[in-house]
Formats: sequence, C-alpha cells, structure tokens
Amino acid sequence: MIFRQLFDTTSSTYSYLIASRSGGEALIIDPVLERVDRYIQLLDELDLKLVKAIDTHLHADHITGLGALRDRMHFITVMGERSGVDVVSMRVEDGDHIDIEGLSLGVIYTPGHTDDSYSFNMPDRVFTGDTLLIRGTGRTDFQNGDPRAQYESLFGRLLRLPDETLVYPAHDYKGDTVSTIGEERAFNPRLQVKSVDEYVDLMESLNLPDPKMMDVAVPANMQIGMAQETVARSGWALSAAETMSVIGQPDTVLIDLREKSEREKHGVIPDSVHLPYSDLQKNLLPDGLLHQLAGATAKRLVFYCAFGERSAMAVQAAQNAGLKVACHIQGGVQAWKLADGPMTQQ
Ligand SMILES: [Fe+2]
Repeated sequence: MIFRQLFDTTSSTYSYLIASRSGGEALIIDPVLERVDRYIQLLDELDLKLVKAIDTHLHADHITGLGALRDRMHFITVMGERSGVDVVSMRVEDGDHIDIEGLSLGVIYTPGHTDDSYSFNMPDRVFTGDTLLIRGTGRTDFQNGDPRAQYESLFGRLLRLPDETLVYPAHDYKGDTVSTIGEERAFNPRLQVKSVDEYVDLMESLNLPDPKMMDVAVPANMQIGMAQETVARSGWALSAAETMSVIGQPDTVLIDLREKSEREKHGVIPDSVHLPYSDLQKNLLPDGLLHQLAGATAKRLVFYCAFGERSAMAVQAAQNAGLKVACHIQGGVQAWKLADGPMTQQ
C-alpha cells in the first residue's frame, strides 16, 4: 500500500493519500485548498490516478480542496449523507464502503464535533476526522456539535475498534502524527471520564474562541458543487421532466454512471445501461463502448448519476471526445425522484 500523511502548516490539518499500488487508483481524505498543487505533483511523482476524495466533515478552519481538485482531475467527490454541502458526487452513510482499486474504506457515522462527522476505517487503521484527536477530541460547541453524541461516537463506536488500530486524525497541534485506539483509551485525558454527563461537563467548560477562518471557510465549504449550469448553457442538459418525455424512445439510451452499490441501494431508472464513471475514459476511447453506441445507432446518450456531478463531467469529456450526442440529466437521480420519475430496484 502507498500511504502518505500530508500536513498543512496554516491550519494544522492532516490530509491522507492512499493507494494500493504504484500506477493504480488513489484517494485523498481531507484535502486542503492551498495544497492542491502539491497533491497533484505528488500524484504525478507516484504515478497515481486520483479517483475519489473525501471530507470527513464540513471544515470550519480551512477551505477544502475537494472542489478545486475535482475541477482539475475530474474524480468523484464523497461526503456523508448528513453533510449540508450543496453537491458532492457521492454521498455515503454508516455501514457503506468507499471502494477504489485494491482498497475499501468502511464508513462510520461519528457525530458530535459536527452533525456531519464521519470516520473511515481499514482493517489496520481508522481516519477519525475531528472526532478523536491524539490526546484530544474535536470541540462540540458549533456546527450542530453535541458532546452527548460525541461521547457515543467515541465510546460506542471508535473505542470498540481493536486496540492496535492506528488512529489518524484530521488535525494535530502538538506535533503527533499517529496513535492507536488502545493508547488513546489509556492516555487521552478527554476519555478518562466516568459518564456521559461528566464528558458533557468537560466539553462545555472549554470556552474556546471561534476558529480564525470560520466565517470564510464554512460558507466556502458549503458551496463546492460543480457548476452544472455551464453544461446546461451548452445545451447538454435535460431536466428530469424532459428526460421522462424521451425515455424509451429508440434514439435515446440512458447511461447510469453510478457504482453497483449505489444502484442496489437507490434503484435504477428503467431501461438504462450501466457504465460506471470509473470506466469512462476506457469507454470514451475511439473503439470504446460509447462511440459504438453513438455511432452504430445514432442514439442520444443521456448520462445520469446520483446528483448530476459525475454526469456533467462525463458530458464534457464525451463532447471533447467528439460525441456530440451526449447530454445528461441535471441533478441526477435526486432530481429524477423529486420529479416522481419511475425507478426499478436492482
Ligand atoms: Fe472540524
């Protein structure tokens, strides 16, 4: 496995780059906007293809690199279902998995620092965001924070992981880089409480100043969705209602870009073909499936995904590859369901 812990000195944020092999797919957890050039350089140096990036929660102390990286590298942005951010490509909830080639991260909902805080685990390590820090825990006094919920996330979820599990937090202010669950249970002063009420009292007595960047970072981090209007202005977008009027016509084929797990969980638009976004580049090659579909039958190719972001990126890539018949459903399955579009279960 390739594993890099990257540090932003301004906000004391750790970002993590993970891949199963050189030359393969990679993901980044909690990228920082100001470090985007560095990540891209490192990906290039390590010969990695960034396919997913995840934020553990909506950050208040730095601007996320999720949107800027996505606009340059066209990968899938991921956040939790509970996140208030406008658009990400894929949303996950407790018990889901985030998969890339050779690696799978489990999703653990760990609210408390914020109500959209998630942790992500692998067999030997856990990325705890700001829920569990090294010898500390994330503050719970803003962004719908809740010390009671955090106590449950810590004692009911994270501390139940095996003692030897490595703990990689989203921040450190003292120079530590990694810990373990057993070490934190024994030595983290916030975890030495005897009851939830004692933990609540402890957290409510902290009286911390607001983060310096909060007024800038929170609004910026709420608005990271790709501007789908650009695609619409080019005439490459259909509303859900417009799509319903062409669905089933012989010159139209719907293409689902989501992953198998999303199709199983949220259903499928009837009569659509499954070509996941991770295979897009391969399918756009001159002899690829999309050219065959468009060329042989002169079909209109209507891409769709969960929220319209992957499909908007796919339309632009397809148009660049000469597929003038490509368009997408703006807003994706979310918009389709709001318009009472039919779905079938997988
Ligand atoms: Fe945070």
